[in-house]
Amino acid sequence: MDAPADSSAFSSHSLYLSGFGTCVPEKVVTNFDMEQLTNTNDEWIVTRTGIRNRHFLSGDEQPSDLAVKAAQQTLANTGVALERITHVVVATCTPEYLSPSTACVVAQKLGLRHCIAFDINAACTGFIYALNVCQGLLCADPQACILLVTAEGLSRRLNWQDRSTCVLFGDGAGASLATARPLDTPGHLSARLGSIRCSSDTDCWDLICVGGGTHDPYTLGEPVNEHFFVTMQGREVFKHAVRALVSISREVLEQEGLGIEDVDLFIPHQANLRIIEAVGSRLGLADDKVFANVGSYGNTSASSIPLAMAEAFSQGRIKPGMKVLVASFGSGFTWGAAVLQF
Ligand code: UT7
Repeated sequence: MDAPADSSAFSSHSLYLSGFGTCVPEKVVTNFDMEQLTNTNDEWIVTRTGIRNRHFLSGDEQPSDLAVKAAQQTLANTGVALERITHVVVATCTPEYLSPSTACVVAQKLGLRHCIAFDINAACTGFIYALNVCQGLLCADPQACILLVTAEGLSRRLNWQDRSTCVLFGDGAGASLATARPLDTPGHLSARLGSIRCSSDTDCWDLICVGGGTHDPYTLGEPVNEHFFVTMQGREVFKHAVRALVSISREVLEQEGLGIEDVDLFIPHQANLRIIEAVGSRLGLADDKVFANVGSYGNTSASSIPLAMAEAFSQGRIKPGMKVLVASFGSGFTWGAAVLQF
């Protein structure tokens, strides 16, 4: 990966994304399994969300284990040696510890020493915020080879007494390499980052929370309270999500000088099929240009776009030459969108 394959394709803010590894836990939890865990039913979950299955961590399995498998796939896909990696950046809102970062845990499990390793928490917008941060890192050091990871374990923060949230989420990880120039190893799919925009509205900070931090002090031996888990004002989130995804998608397309007709595939955050369909239709996209796989994974937060991108490749829905619009929203309230040129 040392020599750029095409040095004309380098500018001070270039970012190329390659490798696209993913991993989900083996354990599949169906809506019928959910019926045993909480007061719900398959019909409600499918009609309100489009979700049929999700994958949950089991036993001692951790998001970092998924991340390591996704990263190993990325290295195998690109032919890049582990020792070339200079940074590990993990987007997560379910870190394994408050400290150290999941990035340090992933680096340790991969056998990486002396790289820069840190987490980004922008919840479900984590992948897009991470792209933006990596763009800055590559600007500062164009030789950097960043392992950009998303790793989530939402199943570890679900409140089984809150049926309106516990049925929605799943676990998973994604990984890719972010470099300032295209890799010189042949035969792998890669994308150049075009325009990108990220935003937040912190007045809405409490619409979705994942507890476990210092806000609620816990006492050894005492049970945790409901703030330890995911809490969400679902209807409010729904409205904000549709508005935010539509407006930021339009902004990023305008910034890139593209019309909606130039988009080959739209990959939005996979939280709820009704949100995905509402946004696709407001943007004026045909159904076959909107990608959805929330039915198989639920909402995997920062990992949802990486998992969806990987599935879109494997179905032949992303091919070289295509322009893919990605957009996400999440706790914070954060949102963002980017254009990827494959
Ligand atoms: O990454 C960001 C993540 N967040 C999201 O994207 C969430 C966005 N919001 C949503 O997806 C939807 O608001 C939900 C799927 C969470 C909820 O759908 P809704 O259509 O807004 O339902 P609701 O919360 O207004 O609840 C309607 C009814 C209630 O019953 P009553 O009061 O009308 O009798 C709920 O108690 O549905 C009931 N309900 C359920 N019933 C069966 C809520 N959850 C469930 C459930 N199973 N799991």
